[in-house]
Amino acid sequence: MKTARLTAIILLSATLCLLAESAGYQQDPNWKAPAEAAAKRNPLAGKPQAAAGGKKLFQRECAQCHGDEGSGLKKAADLQLPMVQAQSDGALFWKITNGNPDRGMPSFSKLPENRRWQIVMHMRELGAN
Ligand code: HEC
Repeated sequence: MKTARLTAIILLSATLCLLAESAGYQQDPNWKAPAEAAAKRNPLAGKPQAAAGGKKLFQRECAQCHGDEGSGLKKAADLQLPMVQAQSDGALFWKITNGNPDRGMPSFSKLPENRRWQIVMHMRELGAN
């Protein structure tokens, strides 16, 4: 009787783990760009050539966690999701700059600003695919 109950509990927790895994990326509701940062315009807007450099940077700095196409490996966000793409360029720039180190996203404030904007441009291309 005891063993049966234990088996049931083990099976239940295994199922719950699988469900949690397949639920995919859960956004951190407390990680939000301040309104002022979110309103910042991308100074490279209208210069699509800038995105090419952004792709190289993305592959070097981001792909090991987010994947070449940005669809997210392990716990890293799927950057193609509407909940990510719906954010302004300024908000994404702010998230890249500050990161969310407690949840595994590093800060990229050491990259020159221009490069961070280039990466944002490339993220838009990933979202359009
Ligand atoms: C060491 C792994 C790692 C690297 C490298 C990394 N990220 Fe992340 N990133 C994460 C994780 C994990 C999250 C989810 C954080 C969370 O749960 O709040 C995340 C979240 C994000 C988000 C926020 C998504 C949302 O929900 O709004 C953006 C944007 C992002 N990353 C862009 C980038 C870019 C661009 C780079 C490269 C410059 C990069 N990341 C490099 C792990 C990484």
